[in-house]
Amino acid sequence: MKTLVILAHPDLEKSHANRMFAEKLKEHPEIDMHLLYRTYPAWQIDVSKEQELLLNNDRIVFQFPFYWYSCPPLLKKWLDDVLTFGWAYGPGGNKLKGKEFIVAVTTGSSEKSYQAGGGNFFTADEYLLPFRGAVLECGGIFLPPFIAYEATFHDDATLEKEAENYIAYIEAPASVLTH
Ligand SMILES: Cc1cc2nc3c(=O)[nH]c(=O)nc-3n(C[C@H](O)[C@H](O)[C@H](O)COP(=O)(O)O)c2cc1C
Repeated sequence: MKTLVILAHPDLEKSHANRMFAEKLKEHPEIDMHLLYRTYPAWQIDVSKEQELLLNNDRIVFQFPFYWYSCPPLLKKWLDDVLTFGWAYGPGGNKLKGKEFIVAVTTGSSEKSYQAGGGNFFTADEYLLPFRGAVLECGGIFLPPFIAYEATFHDDATLEKEAENYIAYIEAPASVLTH
C-alpha cells in the first residue's frame, strides 16, 4: 500500500500542528509527502504531474488546517484542476477507482463544539461532506476523517503524541478504520 500525504498549509513556517505532523512524517520514508503551497507558490498546478502522483499511490491523505470549515484555497484549486472530467469522473474517468482517501484536519475549536447545538453548529464529518462527495464521485473509498481537535492549543508534547496517532491512523488498514 503506497500512501501519499498532500499537505496544504499556507504558512508551514508559522504552523504549529501541521508542522509537527510533517516533521513526524519525515521519519516515515514509506509515506510520501507533498507540500502543496511549497510546490506551487504561484498556484500554477502541474496537472499531469499531480495525476501521475495519484496513479502511483493507493491511499491519498489530504492534510490541512480547518479554515472556515473547509480546506485552504490552494487545495480546493488542486481538486478543481486535477480531478478532471474523463480522468477522475465522467465517461472513462475511472483513474481513482478503488483508491482510498483520508481527510486529516487540525482545528482550533473543541470536539464538543462540533455538534448540533454546539458553538460550531455541525459535526466535522458534516463539514467534510463535499470531500466525501468528490471522492465517491470519482469511485474512490472515503475512509473516516482524522480530526485533531484544538490542535492550536496543544503543547509540543501533546502534539507529538497526536502526530504519532495520526501516522498510525493513516497507516492502518481500511478494515480497522471502518470497523
Ligand atoms: C483563516 C482561518 C480560518 C480558521 N477557521 C477555523 C474553523 O473554521 N474552525 C476551526 O476549528 N478552526 C479554524 N481556524 C483555526 C485553525 O484551524 C488552526 O489554527 C489550525 O488548525 C492550527 O494548525 P497549524 O498550527 O498547523 O496552523 C482557522 C484559522 C484561520 C487562520
